[in-house]
Amino acid sequence: MRPRILAACLALLPSLPSSAGQNSSFTLDFQVQSGGNTNYFFRDDIAAAQILFPNATADSGPQRFVAALPAGNSGALVYFIPRNASTSLSVQAVNGSLTSTVQAFNNTGISGQMSFDNNASMGVAIIGAVRAMRDYVEGGGLTHEIFNYTLGDFNSSYLQLHRHNINGTITSDFIMQTNPNLNLSFSITPGNNGTWTPPKIDFLLPVNATTGYANFTFLTNESSLAPFNTQDLFLQSPPEEASPALINALAGLANGTSSQGDQVSFLTYENKFTAGGWRFLTYFGRDSLIALRLLSPLLTSDAVETALGAVLERMNSTGALCHEETIGDYASFVNIGNNQSYLGAQPFYDYKMIDTDLYLLPIVSHYFLDLPQGHNRSSAFLAKNATLQNGTYAELLKRNIDYNLARAQAFAHDPTRFDNLLRLRPGQPVGNWRDSNNGLGYGVYPYDVNAALMPAALRAIEALSQQDIIDSKYRSQASSFADTWETHAHNFFSITLNESAASARLNNFIDAANLSVVLLNETMLPKKTSFYALSLKDDGNPVEVLHSDTGETLLFADNVTNDTLSRVAQSLQAYPQGLLTPLGMVVANPAYDSNTSNIHTLDRTQYQGTVVWSWQQGMMAAGLDRQLAFCDASNVTVDFIPSPSNTPAWCQDKQLVSDLQSARTRLWNSINGAPEERFSEVWSYSYNVSTGQWGIADLASISPDGTESDAVQLWSFGFLALADPTAGSG
Ligand SMILES: *[C@@H]1O[C@H](CO)[C@@H](O)[C@H](O)[C@H]1NC(C)=O
Ligand SMILES: *[C@@H]1O[C@H](CO)[C@@H](O)[C@H](O)[C@H]1NC(C)=O
Ligand SMILES: *[C@@H]1O[C@H](CO)[C@@H](O)[C@H](O)[C@H]1NC(C)=O
Ligand SMILES: *[C@@H]1O[C@H](CO)[C@@H](O)[C@H](O)[C@H]1NC(C)=O
Ligand SMILES: *[C@@H]1O[C@H](CO)[C@@H](O)[C@H](O)[C@H]1NC(C)=O
Ligand SMILES: *[C@@H]1O[C@H](CO)[C@@H](O)[C@H](O)[C@H]1NC(C)=O
Ligand SMILES: *[C@@H]1O[C@H](CO)[C@@H](O)[C@H](O)[C@H]1NC(C)=O
Ligand SMILES: *[C@@H]1O[C@H](CO)[C@@H](O)[C@H](O)[C@H]1NC(C)=O
Ligand SMILES: *[C@@H]1O[C@H](CO)[C@@H](O)[C@H](O)[C@H]1NC(C)=O
Ligand SMILES: *[C@@H]1O[C@H](CO)[C@@H](O)[C@H](O)[C@H]1NC(C)=O
Ligand SMILES: *[C@@H]1O[C@H](CO)[C@@H](O)[C@H](O)[C@H]1NC(C)=O
Ligand SMILES: *[C@@H]1O[C@H](CO)[C@@H](O)[C@H](O)[C@H]1NC(C)=O
Repeated sequence: MRPRILAACLALLPSLPSSAGQNSSFTLDFQVQSGGNTNYFFRDDIAAAQILFPNATADSGPQRFVAALPAGNSGALVYFIPRNASTSLSVQAVNGSLTSTVQAFNNTGISGQMSFDNNASMGVAIIGAVRAMRDYVEGGGLTHEIFNYTLGDFNSSYLQLHRHNINGTITSDFIMQTNPNLNLSFSITPGNNGTWTPPKIDFLLPVNATTGYANFTFLTNESSLAPFNTQDLFLQSPPEEASPALINALAGLANGTSSQGDQVSFLTYENKFTAGGWRFLTYFGRDSLIALRLLSPLLTSDAVETALGAVLERMNSTGALCHEETIGDYASFVNIGNNQSYLGAQPFYDYKMIDTDLYLLPIVSHYFLDLPQGHNRSSAFLAKNATLQNGTYAELLKRNIDYNLARAQAFAHDPTRFDNLLRLRPGQPVGNWRDSNNGLGYGVYPYDVNAALMPAALRAIEALSQQDIIDSKYRSQASSFADTWETHAHNFFSITLNESAASARLNNFIDAANLSVVLLNETMLPKKTSFYALSLKDDGNPVEVLHSDTGETLLFADNVTNDTLSRVAQSLQAYPQGLLTPLGMVVANPAYDSNTSNIHTLDRTQYQGTVVWSWQQGMMAAGLDRQLAFCDASNVTVDFIPSPSNTPAWCQDKQLVSDLQSARTRLWNSINGAPEERFSEVWSYSYNVSTGQWGIADLASISPDGTESDAVQLWSFGFLALADPTAGSG
């Protein structure tokens, strides 16, 4: 361990000037307010980082500093508490102070200045792995001592917390510097190294001073990732075939004048797309693929192929796709936990999800077959050699096709058995985007995987083989498997309640969820209520929770039946009858569930409960656009939606078409109730029974496990590629 030597160098060397400079068109420097935090984003040629402080008015919440970098998924989490328990404390970033820095040994990172409005003490600090920081925040304040930092150099104006990763030579440092002119001094007593007690660190203002300042720096010797700048990420000019909606959607994205374009760019790098910040600044397969499906009409072929390549590269030798790539210090921790400590800090790839495997093919097919920027690109792309493993992209894609066909086979051969559907993997309580046991209502056969994604993957194999992009031998098997899956899988999830059962359950739910009968719309109470279960239990019994995963059916699947479409239209009505609150579409609604324990299991405090996930709204809107475009090609969308060879029969049903159009309008009215949240990850609602007022509730403040929302989330930016049909023009 050499923290002292390193600290000495750090203290002596002045910061090198940043080569990118303030005027570089490649510098990203913006703020996003979300969930009671102010998020500061900075990226240039040297470093990329997201910094969080509680927003200035959030005086009651814990005061903390978060730094998160895509480089090694490394960062720092540092809590500040009032030194005198009876006083308040606000710790803030000084506006405009954020900048990248290069220091001794080419360690790079981010620095800025923070202010204290009162004497403070340092609370818990975790330096190094963002994943370890998340464990602390979401795990009820638990941390493993393997992630302990050490106290480096310190005096009354300098503080260094140092972290040397479990394996290898990677280090991270959190440094604070001040001087008397900045109205602050440090009082530091080292901890007892023998018992690992943390040091006692106080931040003291002179008597009567109202604000003290300190510079902060987070540094690491992880290599920074090469970024995708907006002009390489987004199409600089619309393709010839572009609709007015696409031309409109592209405006400002590539030239850096769109703040949302900049936010997407912050999440994308030349070897992978990251899922969201601060919690998920690393590779996630599902997030990359869903974001691609929605955003690809706006993206360059380079960007799409990078993200597709990142997914292929991380496939395992069986053909399953990687859900999450754990890198850096946390990879060592996971490897040790798996009795594979000999792997050191080699990335850990997780293959537990059963949905991720199925998203790739429909997206590859959409890109190569439907999008102008994908035309004539397949041969060169598929001929590429993978770099993270042996084989060409063509070989890897074939492996995933074979894997999915093998998994489709049992049900294709005997579609009378629910247990031939795709089940969560043995011993895994999770498997699709509703990433928790309670998220699926404790079911094990998810609706989306079986009713939307497998049929879509099979049709994609058929389409790709028909166009000779993959071996034509796949065509007939994929086609006949798809017929069976499309016809039968969704039936196992079908729920129909008569009027009295539906209304009894609904009224019970209204009481239990502290809602009000005034929310019921009598004209929307049908003779029967039909929807698809969220999942099936191990015994095949449906989990009777109304949900939004039908959006995946509309966006990915073919030959969607008119019954399915009318169920979706019915689900898109005001909550609690349907999914639409005035502040967005909730992803689950247990109002009709005979198992009333799900009212609590999926309530508004749960990460996948009665809460709004923005990408699910985007998916539903895109799905409705796609289905409606099948009936009316003049339906102007940002996306390219080729007409099916036969117009679907349901297009003749004028009532259904009109119901779907009204449902789409209601959906957008709901989406437009929370415009400031649109690009964030997830939020909840509050409802006041006496005033009838709805409000946006920050999930972190009401969630029992403190799960908070990311301020920027890749797949939520799918909205950039959607045209709002309720907007006046365009
Ligand atoms: C700051 O956070 C508080 C709650 O923590 C919230 O009420 C307020 O609206 C937030 N302010 C901004 C500007 O986001
Ligand atoms: C720092 O980086 C520069 C440029 O990449 C390189 O020439 C130099 O050797 C590096 N210095 C150290 C100490 O690694
Ligand atoms: C080290 O970790 C243990 C267990 O999480 C914790 O109790 C202790 O305070 C930590 N010490 C330091 C210096 O972070
Ligand atoms: C703490 O103790 C360990 C082992 O006794 C030693 O290697 C390490 O350098 C000490 N750390 C500090 C910051 O003093
Ligand atoms: C704090 O940072 C500013 C801007 O880089 C710099 O001018 C100043 O000297 C720093 N102060 C200390 C105490 O490090
Ligand atoms: C602090 O303010 C009080 C009240 O204004 C004053 O009496 C006192 O002298 C001040 N102390 C110092 C050290 O400035
Ligand atoms: C960027 O694009 C927008 C929309 O197309 C345009 O209005 C703006 O003038 C452009 N800005 C620059 C600096 O090119
Ligand atoms: C990684 O560190 C752990 C814990 O110190 C050790 O057991 C393991 O051997 C190391 N692995 C490598 C490859 O160095
Ligand atoms: C690849 O992942 C799948 C899904 O988790 C698993 O069934 C299979 O055994 C894995 N293959 C290898 C070689 O580990
Ligand atoms: C891929 O690697 C093989 C050797 O393994 C080589 O012959 C081939 O040229 C490479 N293809 C590309 C596109 O680089
Ligand atoms: C790649 O191929 C080489 C040569 O056949 C082999 O030695 C190596 O183990 C392979 N790597 C992987 C990751 O399979
Ligand atoms: C009830 O639903 C109908 C049909 O969607 C709608 O026209 C009406 O405005 C709704 N009434 C209320 C009070 O929301």
